[in-house]
Amino acid sequence: MKDSIRQVTHVENIRYDKAAEALYIIDQTLLPGEEREIRLATLPEMVEAIRKLRIRGAPAIGICAAYCMYVLARSIETRDMAEFLSGLHEYGERLGASRPTAVNLGWAIGEMLQTARACPAAARDALLESLYRRAVEIHEDDIAKCTAISEYGLSLLKAGDGVLTHCNAGPLATSRYGTGQGPLLLAAERGIAIRVFADETRPLLQGARLTSYELQRAGVDVTLICDNMASMVMKNGWVQACFVGCDRVAANGDVANKIGTSGVAILAKHYGIPFYVLGPTSTIDMRCPDGDHIPIELREGGEIRELWYEKPMALPDVKCYNPAFDVTDHSLIAGIVTEKGICRPPYAKSLAALFDNEK
Ligand code: MRU
Repeated sequence: MKDSIRQVTHVENIRYDKAAEALYIIDQTLLPGEEREIRLATLPEMVEAIRKLRIRGAPAIGICAAYCMYVLARSIETRDMAEFLSGLHEYGERLGASRPTAVNLGWAIGEMLQTARACPAAARDALLESLYRRAVEIHEDDIAKCTAISEYGLSLLKAGDGVLTHCNAGPLATSRYGTGQGPLLLAAERGIAIRVFADETRPLLQGARLTSYELQRAGVDVTLICDNMASMVMKNGWVQACFVGCDRVAANGDVANKIGTSGVAILAKHYGIPFYVLGPTSTIDMRCPDGDHIPIELREGGEIRELWYEKPMALPDVKCYNPAFDVTDHSLIAGIVTEKGICRPPYAKSLAALFDNEK
């Protein structure tokens, strides 16, 4: 069991090869059929990889963006500091525009820009080294945070419980263990039997392609269901908790996550099942007052009409509405699990307390 976990949690979804000065990611659009690395060397390649979800999941997008900023910084030839900073800022703007909802993208880019600004003038090599070190630090921090989140999440479960999860919030979406899936992998590692129901997560099928793949490979008892079956498995009494990740948590505890999450939360409320959101504090956006202020990404209708099907399964010109995320109201959430502990309602107070010592 331990070996299979190690195999999964050590899949390096993002890898920086310092000797070759090259950034690689696993192309998640090819999973579970093929595990292939691709190199991201230019801004268009980076933006395309994030937009097309070759790299996805809020924390993983942030980690990848940090390395991207380092790669882009290396490509800026000038030794004039003001020119360098303005070039890096411009790259950051264009990279940050690739996806709007996950706060980690803008957060990681901001961290890298701040690192650059804090460096002494006219020391390009030292500055590049600082940027590299900050990217590695963001990556390593995420591993530590996911491990802590997994421990807190596991404290909410007991052997024999059933957990329903939506989308993918495992190692592929983060660094190691994951957030929403982290406690489930940790449970398997410790021999605690937890039964998992993974929603397939239409239209991009992160649950089917990624979550069931990661959990099954780790030896977790996972059952794949269509999104519209969640109510049935809850009604059957098979689910004792729901665990999901998050892309942005507003200051009042409203949570943006993969489209369909709010429906799961509403069902959970109906059946009296606690609904938990798991994510690092870097996903909490205290400048965002509530869910109405979270930008929601709209994606192409083609993902609904024809992606993953041998032939299009709807008329080519049928109108489609394809929001990538929805907002779960804070009143439906039993707890928000972070690396600093489990926040409970009222979230305006418990989330703010997480940042008290940073003021
Ligand atoms: O569009 P995606 O696949 O990037 O959406 C991912 C999610 O919604 C995840 O649940 C979220 O980013 C948390 S990942 C730990």
